[in-house]
Amino acid sequence: MFEGLTALPADPILGLSAAYQADTNPKKIDLGVGVYKDEQGNTPVLKAVKQAEVEYHNRETSKVYIGPPGSAAANELLQALIFGADHAAVSAGRVRTIQTPGGCGSLRNAAELIKKANPSATVWVSDPTWANHIPLLGNAGLAIKTYPYYDHATKRVNFSAMMDTLKDVTKGDLVLLHGCCHNPCGADLSQDQWQAIAELALQNGFTPFIDMAYQGFGEGLDQDAYGIRLLADTVPEMIVSSSCSKNFGLYRERAGALSIMYASSADADKGQSNLFSLVRGMYSMPPNHGSAIVETILGSPNLTATWHKELAEMRERIKSLRALLNQKLQEKGAEGDFSFIERQSGMFSFLGINKEQVHSLVHDYSIYLVDSSRINIAGISLANVDYLAESIVAVLKK
Ligand code: LMR
Repeated sequence: MFEGLTALPADPILGLSAAYQADTNPKKIDLGVGVYKDEQGNTPVLKAVKQAEVEYHNRETSKVYIGPPGSAAANELLQALIFGADHAAVSAGRVRTIQTPGGCGSLRNAAELIKKANPSATVWVSDPTWANHIPLLGNAGLAIKTYPYYDHATKRVNFSAMMDTLKDVTKGDLVLLHGCCHNPCGADLSQDQWQAIAELALQNGFTPFIDMAYQGFGEGLDQDAYGIRLLADTVPEMIVSSSCSKNFGLYRERAGALSIMYASSADADKGQSNLFSLVRGMYSMPPNHGSAIVETILGSPNLTATWHKELAEMRERIKSLRALLNQKLQEKGAEGDFSFIERQSGMFSFLGINKEQVHSLVHDYSIYLVDSSRINIAGISLANVDYLAESIVAVLKK
């Protein structure tokens, strides 16, 4: 039965890791998959996570099923992290959270629920957006359309074009927004722009759908949640898919959450029952370990303090690498202005070079990045930044 299948190319992001591993060039640099790396190029387990794992190991008495929503305590702690402590919508029982297998699991669950609630819904995604948004939402059968977002010429959000498209989006459709640290372009919305979107959503009735994969990697945990909290204060309904992969460094544990703010607590009860049934029909219930670690950390003031410190270190390191790459490119005589790298936020920026130049970086210099010229800033180090900047300068001349 499988002879009719056609072989597919490797995933455009994940496929880069295999190519990087196979490369024997000692100067190789991995700027592909969005994972945090330290100066040595490692992605270590956070100290807060290690300590929480020991505590949890000592405390755990059973491996019995946890059920489709996961741990109620973890979900409550994550609600506070995302919406802020004591948000009115949370207190009113309008926000419900389920634990999901990573941010991807959250997005897919959301898509399945949207499809069930409104089969003709269209999800509007930014141009560009994270490549995996398309299969995660589209494979659930949702229609997807794009709104203009990144202006490759100014290296900023083209907000007027974005709003010009969104003004025609109405009730029943959804607008997917990156909560912070836009992946892939690194250009985020300002507070005024969030305000304008919140007002438009209220006026037109479309549902904001926020992907929050990098909370804490931009300006800070609360600052990065500005848009979500503003929307939660403004609109009746919204969806938040959040991930603990990056900010807790729990990538392979698949810890994420889906939080939906409903118009009423009665709608929330109905929504939850549908989500439980969808989860049961897909994977029955989420994995426990990653979420149990998050619960242990957020439930302990000491571990939370350790985690905040480690998160701040990751954030500050990325910021300093942004400044360093811009400085090195200038020093090495790069043609063009790369100050946008320093101005942008989170793990990613586009270098703004063409596909041939990207391929030259990969094949001639063993510098791995996505075809769109997206780089993972965290893959830069003091040891490789000179080689990286020189190589970029060289391909810019091609
Ligand atoms: C990325 O964008 O590189 C990360 O979110 C990892 C992934 O799954 O694509």
